[in-house]
Amino acid sequence: MIDFKKIIGEKIAKAAEIDANEVTSYIEIPPNTDLGDYAFPCFKLAKVLRKAPPAIAAELKEKIETDEYISRVEIVGGYLNFYINRMAITASVLKEIEDAGDKLGANNSGEGKNVVIDFSSPNIAKPFHIGHLRNTVIGSALYKIYKYLGYNTTGVNHLGDYGTQFGKMIEGYTRWGNEYNLEENPIDQCMDIYVRINNLCKEDEEVLEKCRENFKKIEEGDPYCVKIWNMFKDLSLKEFQKIYGMLGVTFDSYNGEAFYSDKMDEVVDKLEAAGVLTDSEGAKIVDLEDKGLGVCMIKKSNDSTTYATRDLAAVLYRARNYDFDKCLYVVAYEQNLHFKQIFEVAKNLGIAEKSLNGLEHVAYGMVRLTTGKMSTREGTVVKVDELLQEAIDRVEKVIEEKNPDMENKHEEATKIGLGAVIFNNLSTSIIKDLVFDWDIALNFNGETGPYIQYVYVRTKSVLEKAGYVPKFEEINLELLQDKSSQNVITTLYNFENVLMNVASKNDPSLLARYLIELSQNYSNFYNDNKIIDDDKDIQNARVYLTKCVGQVLKTGASLLGIQMPNKM
Ligand code: ARG
Repeated sequence: MIDFKKIIGEKIAKAAEIDANEVTSYIEIPPNTDLGDYAFPCFKLAKVLRKAPPAIAAELKEKIETDEYISRVEIVGGYLNFYINRMAITASVLKEIEDAGDKLGANNSGEGKNVVIDFSSPNIAKPFHIGHLRNTVIGSALYKIYKYLGYNTTGVNHLGDYGTQFGKMIEGYTRWGNEYNLEENPIDQCMDIYVRINNLCKEDEEVLEKCRENFKKIEEGDPYCVKIWNMFKDLSLKEFQKIYGMLGVTFDSYNGEAFYSDKMDEVVDKLEAAGVLTDSEGAKIVDLEDKGLGVCMIKKSNDSTTYATRDLAAVLYRARNYDFDKCLYVVAYEQNLHFKQIFEVAKNLGIAEKSLNGLEHVAYGMVRLTTGKMSTREGTVVKVDELLQEAIDRVEKVIEEKNPDMENKHEEATKIGLGAVIFNNLSTSIIKDLVFDWDIALNFNGETGPYIQYVYVRTKSVLEKAGYVPKFEEINLELLQDKSSQNVITTLYNFENVLMNVASKNDPSLLARYLIELSQNYSNFYNDNKIIDDDKDIQNARVYLTKCVGQVLKTGASLLGIQMPNKM
């Protein structure tokens, strides 16, 4: 596709005799299209050129010539506004969409780069809660988008499968295992056992001691303890897989905390050798007070390791085995301090500079539910598989009422219900907290998954009604020069750029917002223009544009993990 920004950057650079890359990085997209397609803030050059912004603007305008790409340049305040040639962008976008098919924007910018994405990472024998759901949705979208951009991407589920709580679980199971049917409702039953044994531990120091021993036995490879522990893992994973299966989420590795149990000594040795490990009341710590990051506990006074030690071992392992350029940790912002500590301490592990610089905590906000059945059930624990099922059931009920003869009702309801939940998790910038509300998530007219799916289905039915979808060479681009068609075209043009932004900001909500914008622009186009028309040239042009919109909506949604229904 024609890179208008680059063309403009080069023109300005030539006129101002400054480096083109720097100039291009200052170019903005104006808040409304009346101000042009691109704007250059001249104050950025005030220092180097030693002139006031309006004078710079006047001088640059004088020197910049219009051509087949740029049709007009205007001065507004200290800005230089550029209007691109609408025929040029129309041709470029519409041809590219035909050529690229469902690979639009897959530009291979990540070729030769390795990215590790640590996401979902629930805890064994504990519920998979709505925070983990948001995590999974964000991480999986990033995973798909990085892959799409050509990065060599590894998705890791860093399971919480280690720690003294498993010693407790084993103790509880040994005592009361025969009272439970773990196959039936494993996580609930595990929670029950856990609460029970925990209470007993509080009363009886001897039981607590037994639990500690059990955990030690896991570490030493005791067959009985390891067997029970593995059973809990398998049961939990089976439960988690149900959710991953529904959401279409996959991982390349399930190396969780336990995987690092034999890899932590090396971390301790390296920190020791680097001279950063200090003794503190029998524990070994790295003191980060001078950086305002408190202390990072590496070994407790009873010699056991910590969550942090395991994460450090994981950094080392991943640097070695994946040689990563980026290692992203999709984890709630509550763990901000933890990751700041890890990234700081990791500087002592002898890892390549590129990998150290590529460590990034992708923090996201909390999810709350408005009151309702799901939020009050058993206190605060919301079961994610039940939530997903409820989304599907609610949609199925609506279909049953409004369109009982629809084909493949259940399949379509599944796509819509899951799409609604996935989209809702991405509907605001990921760092913001989120309230989950059924009425908002399932609203077909709001800024929701179902709305995007609805617009997509509309594009399909337009194509069906038209009966004929032309090829690019057959359409007359002059017939798509009205404002609402052009708004759609500009938005289509931005698709690739949005994907690049998702990767540079690690925020897939940018793509979600983009799909809303494209859907809204198409709806305006649809309302402003008669598509099925007696004038077949007009019809062909509009049908072609409709096809392009459907294609980009579908590609974009699939990168978020959302499937498109055929009917709605
Ligand atoms: N299991 C942790 C939790 O549920 C998240 C682990 C995140 N990943 C990591 N490498 N620390 O809170």
